[in-house]
Amino acid sequence: MARKQNIAQLRCMGCGYIEPTPTADLRCTKCRELLEAVYPTWQKRGSQQPNPVALKNLWQQRRTSLDALDQSGVWRFRELLPILADIKNAVTLAEGNTPLYKLQQSARQSGVEQLYVKHLGMNPTGSFKDTGMTTVISKARELGVKWVACASTGNTSSSMAAYAARAGMRCLVLVPQDKISVGKLSQTLEYGAVVCQLPTDFDECLKILSEVVQQAPVYLVNSANPYRLEGQKTAAVEMLEQLGWKVPDHVIVPGGNLGNSSAIGKALLELHELGFISTLPKVSIIQAEGSRALVRTMQETKGESLVSVKAETLATAIRIGSPVSWRKAVNVLRSTGGACEYVSEQEIAAAKAQLGAEGIGCEPASAVTLAGLYNLCKQGFVKPSETVVMMLTGHVLKDADYVIRFHSGQLLPEASEAMKSFCNPPIQADANPKSVIEVLERFTNEPARALA
Ligand code: F0G
Repeated sequence: MARKQNIAQLRCMGCGYIEPTPTADLRCTKCRELLEAVYPTWQKRGSQQPNPVALKNLWQQRRTSLDALDQSGVWRFRELLPILADIKNAVTLAEGNTPLYKLQQSARQSGVEQLYVKHLGMNPTGSFKDTGMTTVISKARELGVKWVACASTGNTSSSMAAYAARAGMRCLVLVPQDKISVGKLSQTLEYGAVVCQLPTDFDECLKILSEVVQQAPVYLVNSANPYRLEGQKTAAVEMLEQLGWKVPDHVIVPGGNLGNSSAIGKALLELHELGFISTLPKVSIIQAEGSRALVRTMQETKGESLVSVKAETLATAIRIGSPVSWRKAVNVLRSTGGACEYVSEQEIAAAKAQLGAEGIGCEPASAVTLAGLYNLCKQGFVKPSETVVMMLTGHVLKDADYVIRFHSGQLLPEASEAMKSFCNPPIQADANPKSVIEVLERFTNEPARALA
């Protein structure tokens, strides 16, 4: 019993009610707002409160441990996410531990010298979702759940299917038909999910699922589930560790359903509160132009009520018009002073190819961060002397079709000059050495792609 008191409580982010028995849709039973994990013992000064010096050392030591939990880049930080009564319930695929790369060409191009990407696409199923899926599936195991379910634009479903398979659970997926990439669909099928393709969009899939979970014994693992966000917090913790706990000035995150930006903001605010860091970075959220619900919410209602949009973008991962965690994201923007911007399809495509030309592949939704950085620099919101970390959320192979269409000049009816400069179509050559050497000579006299 004493152990149980140390684990997370779920508190309504609207009215503050502590929800003792969450309902299937994981919303507050008093006011219907989202719940968030809170840790009452952290409020009390004393031995129960995380100790920054001791924990920074302990987390470092765990990097050399042979224990499976220590080898996870999520559970290595388990003191910051005590959600399990028994840690033996943890289901891990050695998630997290993702690289932080310093950019050079993009740093020159943007004028921001200290420019980094934290590549969350290097997770086991190729997206940041794994860091939250390990925690929510572990919690589901502890709760004795048999079926888990999500609506998805493809990455959540791939991740859920893998972790459910590891935990021996069944899983149900709702996806918008023909609107998720083939790579993501194939991953989800491979890991054994029951996949329903619905002739609608993501927002409607999620709405339908919230009704299904109230009528059938399935456990919702979309990011409305607060246990997901607890795992996703670790991207920020790991980033700080990789920077030697030197706090960057800006963190830039793509925005879709807004779980990730909420989780990263929550982590930074908690670390600040607990004394792990003494300043806060500005957390900025970037959306695709055709799916800019949060941007409009901030502009038109100052963050007071959600402006939903009919979502459209080739960055299918963030083709979301009614983001569930919008209120949490507004809180993050307000408490860190971050900006909220949108970028065009051309800007996304060019930014993605620019990262690729630097050896950093990512999926389109991730590239909104670099495209957004250019705009934030132009506005003077980001200054050349500042340190910036952009969160790349998915692996380049998640949407190979987009990449091929880009390089063959077929992605958009009109390509910008920036897009054209990165375009790298495959070349048809005859099947003999002479023909290949001719190609080589032709390209030897041309500058390498892009930013010469
Ligand atoms: N980047 C990628 C690659 C994503 O897959 C998603 C969301 C986001 C960014 C946006 O993150 O929703 O936390 O704001 N993908 C979800 C899915 C919706 O179903 O895979 P968010």
